[in-house]
Amino acid sequence: MTIGSSGLISTQNISKHDILFFFNQISKQGSQKLTFQNAVGVLAFFEPSTRTRVSFEAAGLSLGIRWIHLSPEQLSLKKGETLKDTFQTLALYQPDFLVIRHGITGVPHQIQEWTKLPVISAGDGINEHPTQALLDAFTLYERSASKKWRISFFGDVVRSRVARSNIHLFKTLGWPVSICDDGSAETKVFAEAFDLKLIARKNLKTSDVVYALRVQKERGSVVDQAPLNFSDLGTKTLLMHPGPVIHGEDLSHELCDFDLPQSLIHRQVANGLKIRRQILINLLSDSTSKKHRGGSR
Ligand code: CP
Repeated sequence: MTIGSSGLISTQNISKHDILFFFNQISKQGSQKLTFQNAVGVLAFFEPSTRTRVSFEAAGLSLGIRWIHLSPEQLSLKKGETLKDTFQTLALYQPDFLVIRHGITGVPHQIQEWTKLPVISAGDGINEHPTQALLDAFTLYERSASKKWRISFFGDVVRSRVARSNIHLFKTLGWPVSICDDGSAETKVFAEAFDLKLIARKNLKTSDVVYALRVQKERGSVVDQAPLNFSDLGTKTLLMHPGPVIHGEDLSHELCDFDLPQSLIHRQVANGLKIRRQILINLLSDSTSKKHRGGSR
């Protein structure tokens, strides 16, 4: 199945074949001249976002998509309307698809059920952030398509939707994943639940990639370990982070201020545009989506 063709809620159950097909689509994207002039998408972000929201918006504009922006503070939710009534109302205005970020796990899936519209998750609670994982995996794949990347997560993995979506994808691609042991019981339980190896901080540098995660203070996490620093990385260890990077919490100030040659953080951001553009292309090229639009656009 083409990734994104009926929306995208999760990276679970995506096959390796489909991931590689999708990456191949990205590689050929430059030559595609596509427009979806009459398509209407909804951007509904119930949590703050810079990268995901702006890259979806920019990708859509480059394809001729018109956007409806929902800002939670201005919706009748504020008067007490339910989320279900809100989205069922919205569906009656016949947008083609919804891009949704919400702090409660499962909301994008629930909205898809209520509206019967294709939903692209831009992050749901601690559960998943599928487009982030696709752009992360692509960032490594474009560097080497044949390498079996060995990736270690550092930081707040337990409350990270980025980590969960990435773990599914990396495992499907056959890339070994481990977690830096912060000594907490919940990290240990997480590693067991996802069948991942825990490694000592001093051994991070033996990984090909250290993937640092933001401390999710909005979900109750506290900063309880020193930020990642130069001494945690080998000279060839690649550094990734989904952004936003909190200087002095996730990465040390020194690491943030230094133009680290093996940092992929800007490349991740840039690839976000391509990945989200391809998801939108696949969604709007799909026949069911055209049927939904009545073939009149
Ligand atoms: N990585 C990520 O989701 O960033 P934003 O919160 O800025 O969208």
